[in-house]
Amino acid sequence: MSSAGVDTTVDLAGIPLRNPVLTASGTFGYGTEFSPFLDLRRIGGFVAKSLTLEPRIGNPPPRIAEAPSAMLNAISLENVGVDEFIRTKLPAIPDGVTVIASAFETEIDRYAEVCARLSGVPRIAGLEINASCPHVKSGGIEFGQDPAVLARLVASARRATTGPLLVKLSPNVTHIAEMARVCEGEGADGVSLINAVQALEIDTSTRRPVLANGLGGLSGPAIRPIALRMVWQAAQAISIPICGIGGIGSAEDAIKFLLAGATAVQVGTANYLHPAIAGEISDGMAAYAENHGYARLADLIGALEFPAR
Ligand SMILES: Cc1cc2nc3c(=O)[nH]c(=O)nc-3n(C[C@H](O)[C@H](O)[C@H](O)COP(=O)(O)O)c2cc1C
Repeated sequence: MSSAGVDTTVDLAGIPLRNPVLTASGTFGYGTEFSPFLDLRRIGGFVAKSLTLEPRIGNPPPRIAEAPSAMLNAISLENVGVDEFIRTKLPAIPDGVTVIASAFETEIDRYAEVCARLSGVPRIAGLEINASCPHVKSGGIEFGQDPAVLARLVASARRATTGPLLVKLSPNVTHIAEMARVCEGEGADGVSLINAVQALEIDTSTRRPVLANGLGGLSGPAIRPIALRMVWQAAQAISIPICGIGGIGSAEDAIKFLLAGATAVQVGTANYLHPAIAGEISDGMAAYAENHGYARLADLIGALEFPAR
């Protein structure tokens, strides 16, 4: 309940949230780095950096760059590894903070092993699997770009965990609704979308890509209308909840995602500009509901009036 008397609670795929605002994986560390700026109990929760079986150091620099209204990154999922996360990072997160863990790997059985290790850990409210990683056995295309591979990934993760399971979809596909349907069909409790959009920026003085990796992932305000379109399309195709992500930097942005059909949202790149922004977005969403006569934020989910076609 907000101070204005609006019911801000939502249920995201079996994860009860005090409000619909989460911070996005990879943009908020392991939850403690931002604590001087934001009490995480003020927001719905946070999604931790994606974890692999072993620690990874990621790509060499430069691995982030600016782009128009956006950020380009090729961090390549640097992380401490799943066991270290459970042993040292998780206990450091204050009580009362909702934690969603994120898993990724290069092979399906390794994904399942990460999920199994995170499953049943008391502080973890749910699991998000990041399907935007290259699948080595498919020649490096992303897990989330091939419906058959995605189906096997989700089925295997489903078997490995008993708790709420979200699948984070890649936007680098032609038919996002088809991918969302695959996740629902294989037993996911919800989908998160979108991850960063594959992109290239070039330095004309060196005639080389600006990132050492060559390609990177575009995030920030530039991708928001793409993300909104994909959330809306997924919402038309599935009945499991959606967590909307992409360029959210204000309460109004977040409200747009609820209207398009998202139950909750994640804030990513905006955290770098303003580390307390997620708290302001939660307060602003409650104020929007109050000003527009909604007693519950949940009543805004899918309330978009789309022109008849
Ligand atoms: C520096 C950086 C690192 C990221 N690392 C991850 C990650 O580890 N796992 C993941 O699922 N998404 C990762 N993402 C993607 C974000 O979670 C989010 O889906 C994307 O940036 C779009 O949201 P935004 O426009 O609000 O940033 C990362 C994004 C950035 C900018």
